[in-house]
Amino acid sequence: MKAIQAVQRIHDLAPGVEAFHEAVIAGLSAVPKTLSCKFLYDATGSRLFDRICTLPAYYPTRTEWGILRAHARDIAAAAGPAAGLIEFGSGAGHKIRLLLAALRDPALYIPIDISRTHLLASAQTLSAAFPQLPIVPVCADYTQSFVLPDMRNYCPGRLVGFFPGSTIGNFTPEEMNEFLRRTAQLLGEGALFIVGVDLPKAKAVLEAAYDDPQGVTAAFNLNLLRRINRELKADFDLATFRHEARWDAAAGRIEMHLTSQIEQMVSIAPHRIHFRRGETIHTENSHKYDLETFMNHAEATGYKSLASWTDTQRLFALHMLEVKR
Ligand code: TRP
Repeated sequence: MKAIQAVQRIHDLAPGVEAFHEAVIAGLSAVPKTLSCKFLYDATGSRLFDRICTLPAYYPTRTEWGILRAHARDIAAAAGPAAGLIEFGSGAGHKIRLLLAALRDPALYIPIDISRTHLLASAQTLSAAFPQLPIVPVCADYTQSFVLPDMRNYCPGRLVGFFPGSTIGNFTPEEMNEFLRRTAQLLGEGALFIVGVDLPKAKAVLEAAYDDPQGVTAAFNLNLLRRINRELKADFDLATFRHEARWDAAAGRIEMHLTSQIEQMVSIAPHRIHFRRGETIHTENSHKYDLETFMNHAEATGYKSLASWTDTQRLFALHMLEVKR
């Protein structure tokens, strides 16, 4: 019997409403206007994102799931017994089940997510499925540096970082390098890092994945304005903004925008923000990297590539990295 309760008290390092206000004003005062995609994930946004993951047009989730199922044993063999898992952006917590089921006596699971409600709910559900597993939820913005709860006592085996969903593509290449460096530090020498990376592909496939016919992605993007209205007492009229997904071939990325359909002033007390007709708020980038390009980034930031796997259609890649010793 483990002496500790399965789901431990949450470590709450989430940014508060002041930080949100400051970031929104700074982003909407910049030229061009921009807001970080991490703010898309309030409780409603996280729920909408889970729906995106089930859409026919959104191929990454099911494709990555297939790759993970095919190689969970390879990952488990590399990890060895009594490993500690740390997941960046754990969301609904589905994918980790594949890994947990394959690992031998996993010692600890630390899900990190910026959405507190989502994090707690998925930790509880997971705990019911893995009652022996100590779970330490951390509510944090992992794009900033933060300190992890001390896990070495719980975890005699290898540390395994898990960053699925091609969320790493939401960073710019420079931000990604910085994140990879910081994570190598956090995980420490010899740790594994399993990273999902979306591959470049035809424009039509990409644009459909980020602008689905059901309109769920549009609702997800627009929910950011609703969140700003609610939390920051702003007066965005959602009917005057439109969701757009654009593939930038030169940059190798999909961009998400919210486009103002009219010229208007929006108030976010005590500020007033002017929008030209057709002016956009850039809310997300989703970079796509071929195998070699991503491996070069990993090599340059402190990792050795142990393996990389793709599906038969070469839509998506899963990389197994090791922090250099
Ligand atoms: N990490 C996901 C991706 O880049 C996030 C995502 C998917 C997303 N669809 C979105 C973010 C739509 C904003 C809007 O694929």
